[in-house]
Amino acid sequence: MNIALILASGTGSRMGQKTCPKQFMEINGLPLFLYSVQTFENNALIDQIVIVTNKEEVERVKKICKEQKINKLINVVSGGETRKESVYNGLRSLKVEKDDIIVIHDSARPLVSDEIITKNIEECLKFGAVVTAIPAVDTTVFGENDIIESMPDRSKVYVEQTPQTFKYDIILRAHEQTLGDLEITDDCKLVHHMGIPIHFVPGSHRNFKVTYKEDIDILKTFLAEEK
Ligand code: CTP
Ligand code: MG
Repeated sequence: MNIALILASGTGSRMGQKTCPKQFMEINGLPLFLYSVQTFENNALIDQIVIVTNKEEVERVKKICKEQKINKLINVVSGGETRKESVYNGLRSLKVEKDDIIVIHDSARPLVSDEIITKNIEECLKFGAVVTAIPAVDTTVFGENDIIESMPDRSKVYVEQTPQTFKYDIILRAHEQTLGDLEITDDCKLVHHMGIPIHFVPGSHRNFKVTYKEDIDILKTFLAEEK
């Protein structure tokens, strides 16, 4: 079974909007989180959807999904203080087998494509752990105190996106082994920490993460191109 775990429980602090976390901002008449949820609903390989959201929004998310006929939705659970806690809450709520595939996605990436989801699942079936990524476009450097320490070879630098997809027992074990470790925030890092190889699935620039206010304009431009 292939389960989408969709994260919609942040506060969107970098968006600078106190009243409405970014996942609930209305974009062309729909809340932002619903865009990726609809893409997962329409993907032929996804069997079930679980959404993790802010405690006070659980009922609203259920209602919206019912109205929008998200028929694969099986549960909406409360998130935690951090993204890592939100993922863990979602994982613990699942009643699945150890080989079931969990596709973890940030709802802040509304334009994930059907192809990216399908490829995540196909590759996870082969390898057990995959991450969506794109080659870095900017040169990245390591540094501290305003001084460059080293410059990695750009041809080897990738930028992670979501989905990040794992067999259930791998991602659950990764979380349980690092409970309370606040340094490791990313699912991929947790699994990497266990020494398990993680394979790349190609992402896209459209699958960007809505983070700052200006990103809303970029999102609307992409959406206008689809019409
Ligand atoms: N997320 C979550 N639970 C948290 C924090 C984040 O489910 N405690 C989710 C967000 O809703 C988002 C995704 O994880 O879809 C990626 O996080 P990010 O883009 O950092 O969102 P926020 O944490 O909400 O934004 P910011 O960091 O600007 O506060
Ligand atoms: Mg955040």
